[in-house]
Amino acid sequence: MRAAITVLPGDGIGPEVVAQATRVLTAVGEKWGHTFTTREALIGGAAIDKTGTALPPETLAMARETDAVLLGAVGGPKWDDPRAKVRPEQGLLAIRKGLGLYANLRPVAVNPKLLHASPLRPERLAGVDMLVVRELTGGIYFGDKLRDNDRASDNCTYTVAEVERIVRTAARIARGRRKKLCSVDKANVLETSRLWREVTERVMKQEFPDVALSHMLVDACAMQLIRKPADFDVIVTENMFGDILTDEASMLAGSMGMLPSASLGEGKCGLYEPIHGSAPDIMGKGIANPYATILSVALLLRHSLGLETEANAVEHAVDAAIDRGVFPVDIAPAGVNPASTGAAGDAVVAALRQ
Ligand code: IPM
Ligand code: MG
Repeated sequence: MRAAITVLPGDGIGPEVVAQATRVLTAVGEKWGHTFTTREALIGGAAIDKTGTALPPETLAMARETDAVLLGAVGGPKWDDPRAKVRPEQGLLAIRKGLGLYANLRPVAVNPKLLHASPLRPERLAGVDMLVVRELTGGIYFGDKLRDNDRASDNCTYTVAEVERIVRTAARIARGRRKKLCSVDKANVLETSRLWREVTERVMKQEFPDVALSHMLVDACAMQLIRKPADFDVIVTENMFGDILTDEASMLAGSMGMLPSASLGEGKCGLYEPIHGSAPDIMGKGIANPYATILSVALLLRHSLGLETEANAVEHAVDAAIDRGVFPVDIAPAGVNPASTGAAGDAVVAALRQ
C-alpha cells in the first residue's frame, strides 16, 4: 500500500525518539512492500521559534492531507514563561481539536521482563492489561479561560453528544476485549460528571447491554489503579482525568517511556504519540527511550492504515528487543548497562528484519 505520514518531531527528546520510530516505519515498508512517504512539519516550541505560532496553518493543512500524523513531544523551559501568550502545548491541543481527534487510546500492558522497573510489587502487576480511553477535545482543556488581577478561571463543559461518542468508542473496544467498561468521573461534585454518568448509563443500557458497566470516582480510581490494577479492562473518562490517570498507570508498565497513544476521530487520519513529554533534562544526550514512540507507530499501522499484521510485528519486535536485554536507562535493571536511543531503535529494526 501507499500512505503519506506527517511527522512532527517537536521539542526536547521528540526529534530523537521520532527518528527511531521513522526508521521502524521504513523497515516495515521494506519488509511488506509498502511505500510510506513521510513529510516533516513544525509544531510546539520549534514552530514558535520559526513562525511565532505553535501550530502553523501549513502543519494542520499537511496533516489533513495525509493518512496519519506521528508526533514526538512539545514543550520545554525555553517557552515556559507563565505570562507568555503563545505556548508549545497550544500546538498539540490545536492539532487534536483541528483534526477532530476526540478519542485518545492509551493501552497499558505489563511486559513480564519489566517488572523490576515498576515501583509496585510484581504480584500486583500480574495480569495487568487495560486500555484508557480519554476524551481529548472537550472539558476543562478547551473551556474559556479568564484571568484578571486576583482571579483566574477555567471553564469545564461537556455536551451530551461529546459524551455519547466517546462512550460508544470505548464500549465498542470493550466488546472486543474482556467486555468490562469502567467510567471514571467525579459525579459527587461536578455537574459535568453527573451529565457524563447519566449519558453513559443510557448509551450502555440501550446499545451495549453485553458490556458490563461500572462507575468509579476519579480519586477512588487513582487508588484502585495501584491497589488492584489487573481488575481494569477498559476505562473511559474525561480529558483531564485521563491525562492524570495515564501518567499514574504508566508506572505499572515501568515507565512513561513505554506508553504509546492513538488519537482518533471520525475520519481515518489519526495522531500517534508517546504519552510522555519532551523531557528537556535528558534532551540531546541520546538516552531517551524510543519504545513508546515506536509502539505508537504500531498503533498507527493498526488504526489508520489497517495493517494489523505489521502492527503486531512492531509490537513483537519491541518485546524481542527487551527480551534481548536492550533496556534504555528509564527501564534498565540495576547493574545493567543502559542502551542508547539509537541502540534501542537498532534492536527493534533488527528484530523486525528477522
Ligand atoms: C499528554 C500531555 C499533554 C496533555 C500536554 C503536553 C498538553 O500531558 O498528552 O498527556 O495534557 O494532554
Ligand atoms: Mg499527560
